[in-house]
Amino acid sequence: MSHPIHYPEGHVLLRNLNKSYPVISHGSGVHLFDETGKKYFDASGGALVANLGHGHLELADRIAAQMKKVAYVNGMQFTSRPMEALAANLAKKAEPLGLDRVALLASGSEAIEAAIKFARQLWVDRGYPGKHKLITRTPGYHGNTLYALSASGRPHYKKVYGPLLSPVLTVSTPYGYRCPEVRSNDRDEILAEYHEKGADHYLKELETLIEREGANTISAFLLETVSGSSTGAWIPPKGYLHRVEALCKKHEILLIADEVMCGAGRTGTFFASEQFQFKPDLLVMGKGLNAGLMPVAAVLVKKTDVDTMKRGSGGFLHAQTYMQTPSMAATALAVVEYMDEHEVLKKAKAVSEHWLSELHSHLHTLPFVGSITGIGHMAGIEFVENKASKAPFPIVKKFAQKFVQHAQDQGLVLWPNYGQADGTNGDLVMLGPSLQMSMKEADECVGLLKHALATFEI
Ligand SMILES: Cc1ncc(COP(=O)(O)O)c(C=O)c1O
Repeated sequence: MSHPIHYPEGHVLLRNLNKSYPVISHGSGVHLFDETGKKYFDASGGALVANLGHGHLELADRIAAQMKKVAYVNGMQFTSRPMEALAANLAKKAEPLGLDRVALLASGSEAIEAAIKFARQLWVDRGYPGKHKLITRTPGYHGNTLYALSASGRPHYKKVYGPLLSPVLTVSTPYGYRCPEVRSNDRDEILAEYHEKGADHYLKELETLIEREGANTISAFLLETVSGSSTGAWIPPKGYLHRVEALCKKHEILLIADEVMCGAGRTGTFFASEQFQFKPDLLVMGKGLNAGLMPVAAVLVKKTDVDTMKRGSGGFLHAQTYMQTPSMAATALAVVEYMDEHEVLKKAKAVSEHWLSELHSHLHTLPFVGSITGIGHMAGIEFVENKASKAPFPIVKKFAQKFVQHAQDQGLVLWPNYGQADGTNGDLVMLGPSLQMSMKEADECVGLLKHALATFEI
């Protein structure tokens, strides 16, 4: 079979029933190939997952070696060498953050929910059962299971499932292009105003919320260290994370850093929190931790908090079949050891700087391109109908969806998002290529994107 699959062909519950799905046969580095032989530049690693590119025999061999040893053991009954080694590796990397205990789960959504439950249980074990509310940010995304979706600031995702979701408290996500304090339309001025006034603006909102709800009712604040597809890779304004940390410490509100997208080296340091000297109480990883080879996500916590649980309830009251599964641990271990041994992040730095600067210089004058932001190997490009007023396209135009299809037809894989401008409208694409992309491939990526934009008509 070599032609693309279109509903109702086959038996897969296809994600989009009006789209044709090319059948991927294999990949190599930044490139993918479908069964017709068509080549694609995977500029987004799917949904910013394939951090090390495709066709890695070394990684596959390391994972297979563990799979040949044992099929599965349950985390309630046994531990395993890959699990111990992975936890030790992550704890060493997280030393500056003070996080030194690791649990594995099978998806970012599950790990987010486990972290929220851990925070809540900690308050019960500390003797403050009234602290249960969660603060999250809008726009934001933390997953698709019911509580992770409740915690996600994406109104359009919640329309159908609203009656099944739980209430959470929300504040605005720092988002330079649409920050109310930013008046300018010029890129340098936007950045200057955002970094000058952003932290005050967003902190005020958080302070007001905490005052209104009462800190004695709030368990945790969940935030992406660097916001991913929800804003298009906007970093926090200067001082924001430090001030959030101080405020939450003062009010005894736990901080949960969602690094499912921005972690595992995506933004240039293994944990995004490292480069902002941000010290959350819990940190969640996924995606790049497994580089796409097998679903693996992780929650990192502090031993001192585990000690509190030991004295209180006896231990973390969360159980899922695939927690600490040896083959999952072996997958993440293969990824982190490979990154260490090959100095992936050190080598990636110059390429990412070149790539981000080329993206900006080649694309910012093109029609529809409102904002280009990025850090490390993560970038977001926001499209607008009117560059002067920053007015987004009406959602019915499906700009992001159509542009991403147009790019894929031309052999460029991007990750779309929509609704971020006002909860309904707004179009952006995310780029998150392999951290091992070469300089030449970085230029190829920019060239393909420029061509896709220049040939796109809405
Ligand atoms: C920041 C963030 N958190 C959580 C998730 C949920 O992860 P998963 O899709 O593996 O459940 C995602 C997925 O895109 C994400 O980007």
